[in-house]
Amino acid sequence: METAVVLLLSVLLVSSCSGEDFCKGKTCPAFTVIERNQNYEIHQFVPTTWIRTKVAGTSDSDFLDANGRLKSFVKNGEISLDNTWPVLINHTKDNHLWLCWFVPPNTQLSAASSSVEIFHLPSSTFYVRNFGGIPSVQSGKSNAAKLLSDLERICSNLDSVEYSGAGYDSFWALKHHNEVWINQDSSC
Ligand SMILES: *[C@@H]1O[C@H](CO)[C@@H](O)[C@H](O)[C@H]1NC(C)=O
Repeated sequence: METAVVLLLSVLLVSSCSGEDFCKGKTCPAFTVIERNQNYEIHQFVPTTWIRTKVAGTSDSDFLDANGRLKSFVKNGEISLDNTWPVLINHTKDNHLWLCWFVPPNTQLSAASSSVEIFHLPSSTFYVRNFGGIPSVQSGKSNAAKLLSDLERICSNLDSVEYSGAGYDSFWALKHHNEVWINQDSSC
């Protein structure tokens, strides 16, 4: 699993956000910090657009397949997403995973394909927990659990909780800035 996510992150994006350090000169979703405490931050994001595809399972090859679908979509549509972060893995309430790439504002997108959706996320407020290390589905999940516990939310089954893991670095980065996002409006 770790290798898959690593591959994803490394094949997608080469190097270079506006504002926040971890964006390193690339285009990232714009947000306002509403609160910052020891364990988490509250970020209010502007409306954003993503391209996303469902990940069939949690194996390396499932992630590689999903990555390939987004790559071809970008290539066929002649879209340039080389200068954007993050890569998001959205875990839904029905226990599905979506691989999502951020699309900068004013990007001309081709029509959705059978496997790739254009997803508009309305302005949303997320609890954000940062974590380091090479991101994986497992580390995303355990950090989601820690965030829920910091929020004093009792969710008996993590499979039915909506959360997203965001990665902002390629595999070779010496330091990784990863985040787990939980929508303020979501429930267990
Ligand atoms: C994750 O997917 C669900 C289901 O489509 C959607 O409601 C939610 O807004 C998505 N979250 C993000 C951060 O993309």
